[in-house]
Amino acid sequence: MKVSIVGTGYVGLVTGVCLAEKGHQIVCVDIDQEKVDKINQATPPIYEQGLEELLKKNINVNLRATTDLHQAVIETDISLIGVGTPFNGSEIDLTYIEKVAHQIGKALKDKATYHVVVVKSTVVPGTTDEVVLPILEQASGKKAGVDFGVGMNPEFLREGEAVQDFMSPDRIVLGGIDDKTIDTMEKLYSVFDGVDQLKTNNKTAEMIKYTSNSLLATMISFSNEIGNLCAAISDIDVVDVMKGVHLDKRISPIMPNGERVVPALTSYLKAGCGFGGSCFPKDVKALIAHGQRFGEPMQLLDAVIQVNEQQPQKVLSLLKNRFPSLREVPIAVLGLAFKPGTDDMRESPAIPIVKGLVAQKARIKAYDPIARHEAREILGNHQITYCDDLDQTIKDVEAVVLLTGWEEFKRIPELVVHLDPPPLVIDGRRMLDKHSMARYAGIGLREAT
Ligand code: UGA
Repeated sequence: MKVSIVGTGYVGLVTGVCLAEKGHQIVCVDIDQEKVDKINQATPPIYEQGLEELLKKNINVNLRATTDLHQAVIETDISLIGVGTPFNGSEIDLTYIEKVAHQIGKALKDKATYHVVVVKSTVVPGTTDEVVLPILEQASGKKAGVDFGVGMNPEFLREGEAVQDFMSPDRIVLGGIDDKTIDTMEKLYSVFDGVDQLKTNNKTAEMIKYTSNSLLATMISFSNEIGNLCAAISDIDVVDVMKGVHLDKRISPIMPNGERVVPALTSYLKAGCGFGGSCFPKDVKALIAHGQRFGEPMQLLDAVIQVNEQQPQKVLSLLKNRFPSLREVPIAVLGLAFKPGTDDMRESPAIPIVKGLVAQKARIKAYDPIARHEAREILGNHQITYCDDLDQTIKDVEAVVLLTGWEEFKRIPELVVHLDPPPLVIDGRRMLDKHSMARYAGIGLREAT
């Protein structure tokens, strides 16, 4: 099929490159000429594992980029909208979506044949039918359901693993105003064999996306709340508690051969210093705001956000317990990105924690395998020395604070053993063996007094 994809962020570009790899003819559209040039030169403007390789393979074969949205719509059968929908504090900002819908509508005016417009961006229920569709009709002077179709197809891509998630989808959700729209989207996704598909209306498709992210965020805050109670009571470690919970056969089923299935879901049922990223905090807050608009307070999700926002404070408290004053105390902060495998610092718990340390005049040595540049932009240089490697970072410090679950941090126990005196290790991700270090403190664990 001939497909135009509007927006070359991590959703749009990954979608474009992967659909090209699957044999469709793709035109990626962006207003940013620099991004378009980069894509055409086979240099992805964002980093995603495996993306560059697929881009190189498909550019000028099944894929090209342009700034000309009008022409792209004319030449293709279906347009996917993958532009940003930032949360502005009270609602998601639809400026980009509205602009793109208007431009697509104007192109539809000049197009004789049927076209399908699909929203891929995360938007609150009602946006596709009540905002995008009317703009398309008004700008085109044509009728949805007659001259063009309107659909909603949420993405379920994890940052860092977006290419893999796209190429091996767990589900394909197809929302649409009518059968013809859905049939066209089904044809687009027929390149993925044997994947569960859910066909529904646009509002349900929109709600599925928010509900999926809200559930995962809820599981994290739930684990953190339990962890905080464990930390208040003596002799309970949240790691053991959650291990016991994971063994529930309804969470980790036992196969007929006796083998235990450990679902990926269990990794969201662990206590830590809180969730971040460009999706969970924004999506949960947007759903809460949407509930308010409908007179339906989202009490549970409100608490999910509250627990998450307090979690960085728990890390700072663990330090405070050992160091009544942090003034001039040398502290190593390990991990700045919101999760391993990315340099993304958006809503990372490391931000309030480092800022808290700066406010208390600690001397900070910070290290992240790839987010150093991003971190410097956000946190600046004041009182912070950015280090090049793990070994150097933990030298001559009184405490080590682990905030992102990078694999290489598993080496910490063997490294601190050689330091004299050994620093206090504060495990914000509960990924280290607490018995392997002389001085250890962690989320969800009461410190020995
Ligand atoms: C999330 C969802 O997982 C995707 O399904 C969704 O498509 C995406 O948002 C989106 O809406 O675009 P992402 O934000 O990339 O993807 O991150 P995750 O890998 O899910 O991590 C989010 C938070 O959960 C992080 O703070 C991370 O530390 C935490 N997390 C992640 C866990 O607690 N356990 C894990 O196994 C993975």
